[in-house]
Amino acid sequence: MTKVMSVLGSPRKRGTSARIAKAFTDTAESLGAEVEKYYLNGMNYKGCQGCEQCHSKLDHCILKDDLKNVLDGMHSADIILFSTPVYYGDTSGQFKQFFDRTWSHVNYNPQADPIASSRLPKGKTALFILSQGDVAQKHQDIIDRYKPFFDLYGFDLKIIRATGLFSGEPDADVSSAQNEAMYYAKSLINN
Ligand SMILES: Cc1cc2nc3c(=O)[nH]c(=O)nc-3n(C[C@H](O)[C@H](O)[C@H](O)COP(=O)(O)O)c2cc1C
Repeated sequence: MTKVMSVLGSPRKRGTSARIAKAFTDTAESLGAEVEKYYLNGMNYKGCQGCEQCHSKLDHCILKDDLKNVLDGMHSADIILFSTPVYYGDTSGQFKQFFDRTWSHVNYNPQADPIASSRLPKGKTALFILSQGDVAQKHQDIIDRYKPFFDLYGFDLKIIRATGLFSGEPDADVSSAQNEAMYYAKSLINN
């Protein structure tokens, strides 16, 4: 059975990025996939502490907070949704703190091997969902900056962007991005 994990980076549970992610997960569930959702804003966790225990002593993050299940679950998920609003030209703070913690999924020992590699099994798909107020020409750099890290984890990366969404309107129409999400779900789920 295909396992889908949805990491929700907007504080708005029914905002635009969350509704795009939901279009994917609803379709995935209807096709028989197992879906786990993680609403980051409702979880207690810290950002990466830079302690490097995950590289010197352990093969996972030493912190035992609410992100443990999310980080552990990434090993067995087939498809991972990473959704976030654009805040100040980047992902939300909630998302960035989570994403920094995925540093524990990287093999990094520059003395032994200068090339970092992923501890996650290969063959996973990532769907990066970004929602923003500005026009599509703006903030493309976010994808350029995050793609190398998705590549490092070996993900087959798909991207959905929803643009021109004024932050005062969480109910704004995102049907075209939702259609894209449903299309991806139908093409990726094969239970
Ligand atoms: C604190 C804050 C910062 C924002 N910064 C930006 C920005 O830098 N660029 C932009 O295009 N939109 C910005 N926005 C607008 C949101 O990205 C936009 O409304 C988005 O659709 C919200 O996604 P959500 O509905 O999933 O929460 C900002 C909104 C907030 C609340």
